[in-house]
Amino acid sequence: MNASCIDFIWDLPPVPQAAAIMEKAARACVEAEGIHLPVYAQLRVTDGETIQSINRKYRNVDRETDVLSFPSTGAKPGKTLGKQPKQLLREMDETGRCFLGDIILSLPRAKEQAAEYGHSVEREMAYLTAHAMFHLMGYDHMEEADKERMREMEERALNGAGLARVTDDELIQAAREAMAFSYSPYSHFKVGAALLCRDGRVFKGCNIENASYGATNCAERTALFKAVSEGAREFIAIAIAAEKALSWPCGICRQALYEFAPDLRVIVAWKNQKEEASLKDLLPHGFGPASGMNDILGKE
Ligand code: THU
Repeated sequence: MNASCIDFIWDLPPVPQAAAIMEKAARACVEAEGIHLPVYAQLRVTDGETIQSINRKYRNVDRETDVLSFPSTGAKPGKTLGKQPKQLLREMDETGRCFLGDIILSLPRAKEQAAEYGHSVEREMAYLTAHAMFHLMGYDHMEEADKERMREMEERALNGAGLARVTDDELIQAAREAMAFSYSPYSHFKVGAALLCRDGRVFKGCNIENASYGATNCAERTALFKAVSEGAREFIAIAIAAEKALSWPCGICRQALYEFAPDLRVIVAWKNQKEEASLKDLLPHGFGPASGMNDILGKE
């Protein structure tokens, strides 16, 4: 199934990367439902006022919301679309795909919720897309049992797409787990880091010291090098936990991380303290691939 699952309409400037992740999430939902026909939804990303007016006009609910879905297939109540492929075929249109319906998503609300849950806006938009896709495929959450079934499908699809939800606290917990493996017989300063990739993967690392002190590798770079060597290139957050103090990344680690993610969220944790900064602020006027070096070298 190579045809796209989502046709986008952006009322607001597109969020870089979001479309690709949302498409991936939608595709995973269709697969989780066991649909093998090419299907698609039309998804409009809009502002709070517009979603409120659509909610008022079509649902009589005069309230801003995060996401709305309008199924077009008329799935029979109690049965989801995976179990009634004939229903789908009726919706095959000139694009060669079966139209599932419309989704309206509020970008400001997705941003608010992302901040609240401590994950990226792209991740929140992917979750809202998955939720709406399951509505379009006949799922509902009026009854507790239905709600659970829908939630389970969302989890399955998002986990399968490598978009598992990772909160800041979970990332800090992962950094603490990594800290336990710290090899620091010289400084006795244990550090652990957990690097969250845009696709949901988390790579952990600890500091690894050496009798020749300069050969030491910090926790952050251990996590980064593990990630890059496994094919990850896009990162949204790193959590750093140290045993004896709140520990911000050293200059070398800031530089190493800046290469891949100038906008990285850097979260440091110690005991019950937690602080956050953007890598850009930790490395102002940083030198990286966007600094024109590639032009000088004549590379792409
Ligand atoms: N260390 C890190 O792992 N990350 C940092 O950003 C600061 C320093 C480690 C390196 C060394 O093993 C120990 O802390 C003391 O410098």
